[in-house]
Amino acid sequence: MKRQAIGFTFMMSILILGSLNWTACKSKKAVTDAAKEETTATQPTTPPADPPFIAALKESIKGKENLPSEEVFENIKILKGIPAGRLIPIMQMAFSTSLGVKCNHCHARGDWASDVNPKKQIAREMWVMSGKINRELLPAIEGLQSPQPVANCTTCHRGDVIPKTSLQ
Ligand code: HEC
Ligand code: HEC
Repeated sequence: MKRQAIGFTFMMSILILGSLNWTACKSKKAVTDAAKEETTATQPTTPPADPPFIAALKESIKGKENLPSEEVFENIKILKGIPAGRLIPIMQMAFSTSLGVKCNHCHARGDWASDVNPKKQIAREMWVMSGKINRELLPAIEGLQSPQPVANCTTCHRGDVIPKTSLQ
């Protein structure tokens, strides 16, 4: 129970950071859009629609968004307790965008629950590693600037599937 609560807090920090970035982008965009509208009177932009397979996935869990992921999806080992409605954005942001990959880098085509693709298990272990960094290793370092320092997938991967080890 305690482990789950800590996991959930860690999860939320990842999501909060993710959505803060997103909000920052959106509001910056809103400002530029507003400026554009003033000068050229263009139509306000609408957010891009989900690609069909994401829309289908969302449709398939309709009404069950607030249930824990493990009750809605078939093969959940690390994201237990996370509401099902949050799993898809986590897949899109933390797992795909931060590594610069598409869903099928980790998933077998046509079967989200399958573990046939070995990258999926690697991602689970990366999640556990990130949790350990955030719960144990970072808090043990004194004198950091942030009151609650966080390392997530983006911190290392920065859009690359193999993180850089040098700037050359
Ligand atoms: C870096 C690897 C990775 C990428 C990329 C990725 N996923 Fe996942 N996905 C996982 C892992 C790992 C799990 C299992 C989570 C767990 O065990 O709790 C999972 C689980 C899922 C599930 C639940 C399946 C079930 O029934 O158990 C869905 C649905 C899903 N992902 C959709 C997506 C979509 C859509 C994308 C692209 C936007 C995506 N994933 C990209 C690693 C990935
Ligand atoms: C502390 C740095 C660090 C963090 C944090 C981190 N990774 Fe990694 N990741 C690595 C390194 C290093 C590799 C190994 C790359 C190689 O093969 O040389 C790797 C490899 C991977 C691979 C295998 C890529 C491939 O195609 O071979 C996946 C998938 C992955 N990470 C997913 C994730 C996910 C998802 C997260 C967040 C939950 C994450 N990583 C967080 C450092 C990190």
